[in-house]
Parts: sequence; C-alpha cells; structure tokens
Amino acid sequence: MFDHAEYRDHESVHAFHDAATGLRALIAIHSTRLGPALGGCRLWHYEHEADALTDVLRLSRGMSLKNAMADLPIGGGKAVLLGPVAPEARRDAFLAFGSWVDSLGGRYQTAEDVGTSVADMQVVAERTRHVGGLAAGSGTVGGDPSPFTALGVLRGIEAAVRAKLKCDSLDGIRVAVQGLGHVGQYLCAELSARGARLVVSDVDPARVRKVCESFGAVPESPDRILAAEADVLAPCALGAVLNRRTITALRVPVVAGAANNQLADGNAGRLLHERGVLYAPDFVINAGGVISVAAEQAGESSLEQVLADIDRIDTRLTEIFERANQENRSTGVVAEDIAMTRIRAGKASTNAVATPARAAAHA
Ligand code: NAI
Repeated sequence: MFDHAEYRDHESVHAFHDAATGLRALIAIHSTRLGPALGGCRLWHYEHEADALTDVLRLSRGMSLKNAMADLPIGGGKAVLLGPVAPEARRDAFLAFGSWVDSLGGRYQTAEDVGTSVADMQVVAERTRHVGGLAAGSGTVGGDPSPFTALGVLRGIEAAVRAKLKCDSLDGIRVAVQGLGHVGQYLCAELSARGARLVVSDVDPARVRKVCESFGAVPESPDRILAAEADVLAPCALGAVLNRRTITALRVPVVAGAANNQLADGNAGRLLHERGVLYAPDFVINAGGVISVAAEQAGESSLEQVLADIDRIDTRLTEIFERANQENRSTGVVAEDIAMTRIRAGKASTNAVATPARAAAHA
C-alpha cells in the first residue's frame, strides 16, 4: 500500500466489507488540509482488486486538486464500491456504505459518481449526514451534480476555443463527445443550443440514437471517436483515455471534457503540449458538480451563486492557458502546481470532523 505509485501523500485509506451483502469498498482520504475530504462514490466492476486501489487513490488526489482549484474550503477524497451489486441487494449495500461514511466522523463526505445515482445517495443519507447530491427541488441548490458539471465543461470549452481558435462563439464549432451518460447528454444539449456541431459516441447504442435524434449529432464508433476530426474532443466517459497511442492519433486542436484522470500517465500532458494540442486539465474543467455539492452541504449558497462560481471556470482556465504559454509548460503541470501550492498553504486539519458548512463559515 505505502509503496503504491499513486499513494503519494494520502492521509488515510480505509477498507470495508459487509458480510450480509458481500459489498467491499475503499475510501481514500487524500487531504483534509483545506477542510473535510469531499469526493463522489464510484460503483464499478474491477477485474482485479488492485485496480480498485489504483482508481481510488488517483481519484481522491484528483479531488484535492479539483477542490483547491475551485477555491472550495474542502479537501479531497473518494470512495469506490467493488461491483457488481445485485439489484435486490442495492439498498442494503448503500445502507452499509452510509454507515462506513458515518464511521469516519465527517472526515469524508460523499456524493454520486459513475455507477451511482441520486436515489442511491438518498439511501446513504439514512445512515449519515455526510452526503450530498440529494434530491433537490427545481431552482434550489443540490440534486444530481451532472448538469452543473456539464455547464462547467461548456464554460471550459468556450475558454479553450477562444484561446486556441480565437473564436468567441461555439456556433459551427465541431465537438466530438466520447460518452453520453449523465454529463455527456447534458453537455450535448448545451453545445447544441449554442450552434455547435456534434460527433458522438457511446458503447450503448440507445444513448447514441437518443442524442443523434435530439440534437442532429453524427454517430461515431467507440474505437474511432478519439481520432475523430473536429475542433474539440470532449472525453466524457472513463479516465486514462489520453496515452501515447491515442494522442498521436488525435485530429483536434483542443481536448476539453468531463472525465476524471484523462491523462494515462505523466508523459501524456507533455506529449499533448509538444503536439500543440490545448488540454483543459480535467480537475479544473469538471469542477461544476462539486461546486454544487459543496454549496448544498454548506447549506448557504443560492443557485445564482453556484452558477456564478461555475462561470469562473472560464477565467481560471484562461489564466492557466496563458501561464502555460508564457512558461512553455503543459497546462496540467501548471494547474497542478497552483493547486498543490494552495493545499500546502492550508492548515493541517486539527478538526477534521468539521462539516463543509462549518468549514465554509470559517473560510
Ligand atoms: P456515466 O456513467 O453516466 O456516463 C459514462 C458514459 O460513458 C456511459 O454512457 C458509458 O456507456 C459511456 N462509455 C463507457 N466507455 C465508453 C467508451 N469506451 N466509449 C464511449 N462511451 C463509453 O458517467 P457521468 O456521470 O456522465 O461521468 C462521465 C465522466 O465524467 C466520468 O469520468 C466521471 O468521473 C466524470 N465526472 C462526472 C461528474 C458528474 O457530475 N457526474 C463530475 C466530475 C467528473
């Protein structure tokens, strides 16, 4: 564990098992220096247990970077549930998960991620108050974070298109979207409303059909979408999609999408930079969802405030693009430097059980 390449500076990693449902879970807390560790709960079928550990460690560190970059008074953590979970055991599995989250006393706060839903988080809320992304009425803060994530990605695409293509509008801009799940579908709706032309792909043909019918998108096969000719590639499926092979095959000047951990390794960011592809660091562009969840848990912000905070993703990325250009460094390295400087400057947590509401009040 401690020698794991992704362990780095994690504060703690917790392993849980529920005998009744057979559920196994890992919760990784990367940092509570800026506040309680907030990050979603992923339900995924991992071929090997070791893959789940790698995933949770990479994701939790990514949450620290994301939350710091979004100026939130919270740290970074993540949970992975090792699926599959039988439909009849789902409720009990999420009750067990809720108890595990609660046992950490607020050091870790959960919400939805890939494979989990608002309904699952409602079940988690029966066992702990350290959960966000709960059902919300229209016009109020909270609920499914995906539309907020999609809105942030839209702002990021606008910033990247302005910086790289010198275009102030998305009208006529061609965007290739990989993954038409929660975020991908909302993103397609936002892009289409602004006149963008869409090329889309998903391993689920029904999702592709729906988006093509709704927005006049052109379908592409999952094994060709990363090499589609377009102005922007928006990866909105799973992580590690940008490696030497896929980067060499790219036919876009901009990569800007929602997926977490898009860079397969440390070389990928450098390679994108060398090839002149403008990359919007994932942990900056996809912060819209966590901005919404953090506001919901703080119980203070208005919807207008949340939307204004999400709009700032544009400015943040523009600054990163400019700095990367001036310093001739990759955008990912520049963004990570900014985030890690903020985290290190944060106080070591003496009261890690503070809720985001209390943390926000102290910020
Ligand atoms: P989701 O599970 O609803 O959607 C993912 C979609 O990708 C599914 O439709 C799936 O069929 C598709 N897919 C999987 N492999 C594919 C492939 N090889 N080619 C094409 N499509 C493929 O997940 P969601 O919530 O939309 O998240 C998407 C990404 O954004 C994930 O990486 C997630 O971690 C990240 N993210 C999501 C946030 C949210 O608010 N939901 C917040 C921040 C990041």
